[in-house]
Amino acid sequence: MNSTFNQKVGPIGVFDSGYGGLTILSEIKTLMPQYDYVYLGDNARAPYGNRSFELVYEFTLQAVEWFFVQGCPLVVLACNTASAKALRSIQQKNLPVIAPSRRVLGVIRPTAELVGGITKSGHVGVLGTVGTVQSQSYEMEINKLHPGLTIAAEACPMWVPLVENREYDKPGADYFVKQHIDSILQKDAKIDTLILGCTHYPLLMDKIKASLPENVTVVAQGKHVAERLQDYLRRHPEIDERCTKNRRATYFTTESPEKFAEQASIFLKENIRTQKTVIDNI
Ligand code: DGL
Repeated sequence: MNSTFNQKVGPIGVFDSGYGGLTILSEIKTLMPQYDYVYLGDNARAPYGNRSFELVYEFTLQAVEWFFVQGCPLVVLACNTASAKALRSIQQKNLPVIAPSRRVLGVIRPTAELVGGITKSGHVGVLGTVGTVQSQSYEMEINKLHPGLTIAAEACPMWVPLVENREYDKPGADYFVKQHIDSILQKDAKIDTLILGCTHYPLLMDKIKASLPENVTVVAQGKHVAERLQDYLRRHPEIDERCTKNRRATYFTTESPEKFAEQASIFLKENIRTQKTVIDNI
């Protein structure tokens, strides 16, 4: 193991390009309040949604190494774009070399697992960032787990800025939500299950539901990712016993901690203190 990562126990790491992963952390904390968590938002380099495969991989690997320095035995990439573009390479190429006893998990597989039990028509829609949609990661995972389903995907590049600029519940957001819902239904009118494949989209839930026919089930991933994580820790006691359990959460950002704490209130129903960190020098 890399000698920098010599701490044996530590908090569960939760990573996102920015704030969105807080929607996932919030569900994880609700289900498993006994654990310690460290959250990192790479706000200085967010959003990741339109960035190249190479850059998302490089940034995400830096973040994972930063979490390992904090002692995290387990890191959740609570970002669809990072899960889509970096998770597989990190698991297969980097982990065996830099930290074979630590684990990195993503949010796409647990979400993909769900849809087979929900869809009746066999037609599933996926909404995500440009990067997530271009990577076709949802299609690959769903095809592996539930062969035979028809999948349509739609990138919604305006939705993250709508949320981060606090416009998600304003009338102006209606246009942009309806535009992409109409577009994905035009691609496949038989969709009865729609995955919100981006951390920010649950904030637009009311408007998304209002634009959809009633028979369509909208799948937000936070709760399910939390349940799968709990199940993973039950099945892997060797990892679980290395996760500290003092009910503590700490928050780091690569940009302004004041701005992070203020914006975080959109995603988390609590006030938090945030510290600044640097991750590109590890
Ligand atoms: N957190 C990202 C995701 O889930 C959205 C924000 C970004 O583009 O960085 O894809």
